[in-house]
Amino acid sequence: MLILARGANYSHHYASMAASFCPALPHHLKPTPISRFPKVSFSFKVFSSQTSADENPTRVGFLGLGIMGSPMAHNLIKAGCDVTVWNRTKSKCDPLIDLGAKYKASPGEVAASCDVTFAMLADPESAMVVACGEQGAASGMSPGKGYVDISTVDGPTSTLINAQIKETGALFLEAPVSGSKKPAEDGQLIFLTAGDKSLYDKVSSYLDIMGKSRFYLGDVGNGAAMKLVVNMIMGSMMTSFAEGLLLGEKVGLDPTVIVEVISQGAISAPMFSMKGPSMVQSKYPTAFPLKHQQKDMRLALGLAESVSQSTPIAAAANELYKVAKSHGLSDHDFSAVIEALKVKIKD
Ligand SMILES: NC(=O)c1ccc[n+]([C@@H]2O[C@H](COP(=O)([O-])OP(=O)(O)OC[C@H]3O[C@@H](n4cnc5c(N)ncnc54)[C@H](OP(=O)(O)O)[C@@H]3O)[C@@H](O)[C@H]2O)c1
Repeated sequence: MLILARGANYSHHYASMAASFCPALPHHLKPTPISRFPKVSFSFKVFSSQTSADENPTRVGFLGLGIMGSPMAHNLIKAGCDVTVWNRTKSKCDPLIDLGAKYKASPGEVAASCDVTFAMLADPESAMVVACGEQGAASGMSPGKGYVDISTVDGPTSTLINAQIKETGALFLEAPVSGSKKPAEDGQLIFLTAGDKSLYDKVSSYLDIMGKSRFYLGDVGNGAAMKLVVNMIMGSMMTSFAEGLLLGEKVGLDPTVIVEVISQGAISAPMFSMKGPSMVQSKYPTAFPLKHQQKDMRLALGLAESVSQSTPIAAAANELYKVAKSHGLSDHDFSAVIEALKVKIKD
């Protein structure tokens, strides 16, 4: 079951409609009406009556203030939300505290002092430790509260976090995002959510402050799976693009012109147009760290393995990301994977 909704009334309507269409089928056999409802445009995005913090006196926690978490929390604060932050490296909290955010010294204290807590961590390990470790968010959770994990993790990790949060009586929503640093800054992310529908409804106005659209995908694990499928495709596209640029250059074509030609044809993609010009100059300003793209390839390959789905292209692409990591490019943008193809074997 897949539901896209911009307004809660849409989601209620289509959730019940979808449920009545396929009430008893096993999940993997259910028809998936992947339909996009027309996007509702908010010209007054942050201060609209639908996204006003005044109508949501909820106290919001935010854990993890990296490339993505910082601008997301920033947008919540700008919209007038009551935000409390925590980050492992405390100094990253300071600019947000200057903007009016409160600070607590542990994820558990943030969760205890807030109604809803968002988490944007690096990977499954950090998502687990921040949610369920000592002084983790679960230690501050109780009935009536909610935990929304925006990190990109695998389904089994999300399921474990869900179980720990549920044990406290609180609600859980996984909500990984599609979109990178700039969409995070611009409040243009795409949320891929799954888990407690009532929490989804409760936090939808916050998702609308941080994003341009949101999908409710049903059971925990579906949001993670959607995110991994999307990033697996993205990771493979990037390696193919890198190969093409280098091949073209080697046979005497101007790579700048290759980027321009691609941008005008059927395989044009914002990613190629955005990253191509800097890749041609061997520059990789970090929007999406290469180490996270490799993590997503690894998790996507694990997902494929779990259902015996063949993914040879993604497997080959993953090898290139690993080579790039071994050359110290982990913290560069994932477009630096092109460097893995330039590596010369010594005689
Ligand atoms: N960047 C993108 O374009 C993008 C787009 C969509 C989704 N994502 C996903 O979103 C998540 C965050 O991405 P990002 O780009 O913001 O990454 P990032 O800049 O590397 O930030 C990672 C965050 O996780 C924290 N962290 C890492 N290990 C930790 C640990 N052991 N304990 C506690 N905190 C820990 C970091 O804290 P410190 O500051 O102390 O290191 C930081 O706050 C990842 O899952 C990524 O795959 C990223």
